[in-house]
Amino acid sequence: MGWPYIGETLQLYSQDPNIFFLTKQKRYGEIFKTHILGCPCVMLASPEAAKFVLVTQSHLFKPTYPKSKEKMIGPYALFFHQGEYHTRLRKLVQNSLSPETIRKLIPDIEDLAVSALESWAAASEQVINTYYEMKKFSFDVGILSIFGHLDRVYRDKLKENYQIVDKGYNSFPTNIPGTAYHKALQARKRLNQILSEIICERKEKKLVEKDLLGHLLNFKDEKGETLTQEQIADNIIGVLFAAQDTTASILTWILKFLHDDPKLLEAVKAEQMAIYQANDEGRRPLTWAHTRNMPLTYRVVLESLRMASIISFTFREAVVDVEYKGYLIPKGWKVMPLFRNIHHNPEFFADPHDFDPSRFEVAPKPNTFMPFGNGVHSCPGNELAKLEALILMHHLITKFRWEVVGSQSGIQYGPFPVPQQGLPARFWKESSTPFQDM
Ligand code: HEM
Repeated sequence: MGWPYIGETLQLYSQDPNIFFLTKQKRYGEIFKTHILGCPCVMLASPEAAKFVLVTQSHLFKPTYPKSKEKMIGPYALFFHQGEYHTRLRKLVQNSLSPETIRKLIPDIEDLAVSALESWAAASEQVINTYYEMKKFSFDVGILSIFGHLDRVYRDKLKENYQIVDKGYNSFPTNIPGTAYHKALQARKRLNQILSEIICERKEKKLVEKDLLGHLLNFKDEKGETLTQEQIADNIIGVLFAAQDTTASILTWILKFLHDDPKLLEAVKAEQMAIYQANDEGRRPLTWAHTRNMPLTYRVVLESLRMASIISFTFREAVVDVEYKGYLIPKGWKVMPLFRNIHHNPEFFADPHDFDPSRFEVAPKPNTFMPFGNGVHSCPGNELAKLEALILMHHLITKFRWEVVGSQSGIQYGPFPVPQQGLPARFWKESSTPFQDM
């Protein structure tokens, strides 16, 4: 359990967290305890234990986040809750992100992908930070799924203020003027104001839309009660927050893994070119059926999700004393299913450190592949995230090329794992000449 109060927090945060978990797992097995960030924790590195906490006995464990983060996103966001309120909100979020809804977004996601790629290629001599650019793309797709076609003025205002919230989210939570945390809280208040203007306008125009805002606005419970403005705002910011860095991070990893394996890139290109040619040299828009018929590209997405394991673990808290396989998990202790350790366990994924999409030709064993979590809180945005990846890859691979700049390997945590320095890269159009120094 480490030192009094600080426990093993320093050991966890002063090195690659995976080494911390792996060392523990080797020494103590798949269930072990530690003490981090002032809390006693039980860490679970087996698929059965993860299923126990997240699926079969999920009612015994509640989601838990630091208060400062809850305040920043908004306490009514669904992922802070369990029980009836969570179920109700989750249904609304899930409906707005269902395959039937997101398939209608394909042409707009294509437009966003192409305009992002064009802008990177236009600055061809310039090295761009891939992760940073992917964040802009995933933010725009998030806005699209929440508001549909949102007026540019509102979009820019949301973007400007959300960026300040984003900066403050991972800073030290001191609410003193001048600190990043204080600025973020102020920006969060302004976001509420902007959202209330958007809502007023939609109500005035009596628009009934199928996007997330439409679902939230139209909701009525059995007593005819609607959601409050605060509940709506917190859930909108919550979804933006859950959607942006995660998706940007996986998109960046996909580019890295493909760049590092030219043979694989060639094979993916062949698959994408066949769609491009059959689609009148890319003159016709992509369809849902196209995106469902990209088997190799899809396996690259899955393998990237496994390798990068963006959400390395999650936190829950035991709401009562719980017994699991003869171990006691005391009430109030944190519980952490370790997704990354499961994804990198050679028992479930042979040669886990090799990037090998063909491993997904066979479905993984149950509960061993959980990039989007599992059970009641599993990711409702998983189909949208994969759709974004497939669409961006289609346009990137059929019409553009890219070159990673510099030779830094390794991972940076911000807090999600991202290639070092956000993967500096140059992009250019396939038809144009690459730069002189390459
Ligand atoms: C590659 C991208 C993504 C990854 C890896 C990812 C991963 C996850 C994981 C692991 C969870 C469960 C966390 C837990 O159990 O504690 C989760 C929850 C969630 N995700 Fe995602 N996510 C991604 C993209 C998205 C997108 C695009 C959206 C929305 C547009 C989204 C919305 C949410 C929401 C709202 C929750 C909370 C669900 C609940 O508590 O019921 N995610 N995500």
